[in-house]
Amino acid sequence: MSEQLGLLGYDYVEFYVGSAKMWAYWHAKALGLKVVGYLGPETGVKGKVSYLLELNNLRVVITSAINPSQYEISSFVERHGDGVKRWSLKVTDVNKAFDLAMKNGAIPAREPKRFENSEGYIEEAALKLYDDSEIVFINRDNYKGIFKPGFGKPIQKIEIATEDSGLEAIDHIVGNVRTNEMDLWVNYLNKSLNFETFIDFGPGDISTQYSALLSKVVRSTEGPAIKNPINEPYDGLKKSQIEEYIDEYLGSGIQHVAVITPDIIKTIAALRKNGVEFLSVPPSYYDTLKERGFEVTEDISELKKYGILCDIEGKGYLLQLFTKPIGDRPTFFYEIIQRRKGAQGFGQGNFQALFESIERDQALRGSLDKK
Ligand code: FE2
Repeated sequence: MSEQLGLLGYDYVEFYVGSAKMWAYWHAKALGLKVVGYLGPETGVKGKVSYLLELNNLRVVITSAINPSQYEISSFVERHGDGVKRWSLKVTDVNKAFDLAMKNGAIPAREPKRFENSEGYIEEAALKLYDDSEIVFINRDNYKGIFKPGFGKPIQKIEIATEDSGLEAIDHIVGNVRTNEMDLWVNYLNKSLNFETFIDFGPGDISTQYSALLSKVVRSTEGPAIKNPINEPYDGLKKSQIEEYIDEYLGSGIQHVAVITPDIIKTIAALRKNGVEFLSVPPSYYDTLKERGFEVTEDISELKKYGILCDIEGKGYLLQLFTKPIGDRPTFFYEIIQRRKGAQGFGQGNFQALFESIERDQALRGSLDKK
């Protein structure tokens, strides 16, 4: 057995955006997250601001440059639009995890570093991922303050009356890459992080008469489940939605973050009331669900009412729904997922429904036709 990295699951996701305050407002109002931390000039940090939002074990950081000195942030946003810069993994020992990942072929983005103040210290290091993204190793066990040194209590309280969304934690994070890049990144993650491939959607598995994609899912082999699907375009008559993403994002990057909920009907009811827009499925989807004889605990008419997708996976089943892209470009979106009766994987039926749904919106944007 290979040496363990000491992975302890997802910690946070960080977005680089044009206006962190507006994005924080949306995450608070629409998703029901709480603003619990702030970093900026008032906390002694020049040139940028970050808002930390949490709900249960879900942790999101939203960061903007507020002057051109923070070129790393502003250049990311200029090129890619608002999007995920990095996702992080808690580790038992940052130096050990980083050294082992390097030994196994990872590309360094930032060497291990300790950040400290009177409340203690945290340690962080980062690996390169896709064109311009990062995987961060973090350990915050020895820090008593808010999140990381530099963060303080929110200056302006973004306290909004909103429905309780019940969102719980990150389930998986998905990347979109170019043709022939999927295996490169699958091998990279499997090697550097001791991950393994556990699902392979090949040619024809996810497609319409017009377009297609290929997808592989890699997952951790130690500690809590860390799942990372990677998609690449596949040849079709028209442009694949993964190609559209690459064109609009100007490169490879994070397509969606899936958030788990223990009660998807309650969550989707709350998010719809909060104004979140979701991809839609045709009403006939629920007729075929009945015909396929799915044994689900939930009332199918309730699933239909809220537009929730349902798919058998292993001995259990998955309930899922995907938001429309949340920013201006058709790039990043959220997924809401509930895993029932031990379902661990990703249902092909729901993936196909997502693919068709995005393709309908893609046609509306006029980017289904090859240029
Ligand atoms: Fe997903």
